[in-house]
Amino acid sequence: MSENYHLDTLAIHAGQEPDPATGAIMTPIYQTSTFVQSAPGEHKGYEYSRSGNPTRTALEELIAAIEKGRYGLAFASGLAAIDCVLRLLNPGDHIIVGNDVYGGTYRLFERVYARYGLKFSWVNQTDLEAVKNAFTPQTRLLWLETPTNPLLALADMRALADAAPGDVLVGVDNTFASPALQQPLTFGADIVMHSSTKYLGGHSDAVGGVLALNDEKLYNELKFLQNAVGSVPGPMDCFLVMRGIKTLTVRMERHSYNGLQIARFLEDHHAVKQVIYPGLESHPQHELAKKQMNGFGGMVSIILESPEAAKRMVSRTKLFALAESLGGVESLIEHPYSMTHASTANSPFPVDTALVRLSVGIEHVDDLIADLRQALE
Ligand SMILES: Cc1ncc(COP(=O)(O)O)c(C=O)c1O
Repeated sequence: MSENYHLDTLAIHAGQEPDPATGAIMTPIYQTSTFVQSAPGEHKGYEYSRSGNPTRTALEELIAAIEKGRYGLAFASGLAAIDCVLRLLNPGDHIIVGNDVYGGTYRLFERVYARYGLKFSWVNQTDLEAVKNAFTPQTRLLWLETPTNPLLALADMRALADAAPGDVLVGVDNTFASPALQQPLTFGADIVMHSSTKYLGGHSDAVGGVLALNDEKLYNELKFLQNAVGSVPGPMDCFLVMRGIKTLTVRMERHSYNGLQIARFLEDHHAVKQVIYPGLESHPQHELAKKQMNGFGGMVSIILESPEAAKRMVSRTKLFALAESLGGVESLIEHPYSMTHASTANSPFPVDTALVRLSVGIEHVDDLIADLRQALE
């Protein structure tokens, strides 16, 4: 498939040639654990579905194409994808991480990998000097989320990738933006990661994770770990993520349109103390957002007057469902302090107790605004 195709075209076709055997337009779901061999080691490219499965191969090629990388890898969840990256490291290695991340990422790093001798520095990734000062001779990985979950802070990917010493890998969790809004490898990142549970899948029906990258040696190491550790997705989930990606660019346009309208509505609402959305002029990194993103996405965070007001609001919406997760076509609302980010409560960066996070879906924006208005009454 030509790399020169636009993203909209790649999203529908890359990795997904019609099935040569039958002509099926949609990639078959190869629901099989193993593959027959004509003699030991003689097979058609697949031996066992942990090591490789044709439906997963199609998803991995698709991910590489839409992230402008050479290689893709798919996992059973977003955390499994991050886990695979950390397994590249050795005890004593040092990792710099932004100090506003998904709660599960914090939990994986500090409660699992710290026990195996990895050392983490949690740094404000919006402060280039602070990140530069955090590098030590042991630093092997700079891990960024942009926009962050849940405070929607950006990382200046180009500046940070340039600042990282040559032997430091730069990884970007691109879950909130998706490749429709930004492609971190083009800004100098070494590895891009997604929870494909979110915008890539887009329909809240599959849990998954992916990595994309360019370097062949690094790919071989990660591919080895993917098989050696074994947190791979099943073929049905790969199929669902691929089907979701076909409409990614169209969905992201609507998510971004709705997100901006809702952020503006909330900014004018007397019950809302602060609205955080990269598309608003009031966002401290709005200029950077315009520079490195093609749209601002569907995630909007707000701070209300009190934790009680936040809990009241999230319990009163009718269209916005109170649920963890994000990135689906349907709108979701949640209270990070008691839900997605409960695991950061004892961290150096607990989330605000009055914070509410919205995942704005692609319903009609007037209906969504009416729902929020009545919930805030
Ligand atoms: C930014 C971000 N990264 C990683 C993850 C983890 O992904 P998963 O839940 O698919 O393991 C999430 C989940 O919410 C997330 O929001």
